[in-house]
Amino acid sequence: MKVTWILPDGAQVTADVAEGLSLMEAAVAQNVPGVVGECGGNLSCATCHVQVAEDWAGRVGGPDDFEDAMLDTVEAARGPGSRLSCQIRASADLDGLVLIVPEV
Ligand code: FES
Repeated sequence: MKVTWILPDGAQVTADVAEGLSLMEAAVAQNVPGVVGECGGNLSCATCHVQVAEDWAGRVGGPDDFEDAMLDTVEAARGPGSRLSCQIRASADLDGLVLIVPEV
């Protein structure tokens, strides 16, 4: 599946991501600036924060309660599409997904 990250300066990174990989792992593998993944995907750092593009929000879904609480700790402003990308798995039905990397 293809994923595009839009960076705060408008630059884009597009990559083929293997199904099953988390989108934090994918971002780190692609050196997407601003997605760090400090805790390795354990839902305890919030450094993998991204905003799911509006068109995709319905398909990706929202955070569960624990992720929702973690999102309250993110450095960048939280938006309606905010998710922790370690909690989103690459899958065929998300092919073409667009994630916005928030400015910190
Ligand atoms: Fe730490 Fe996602 S990588 S919360």
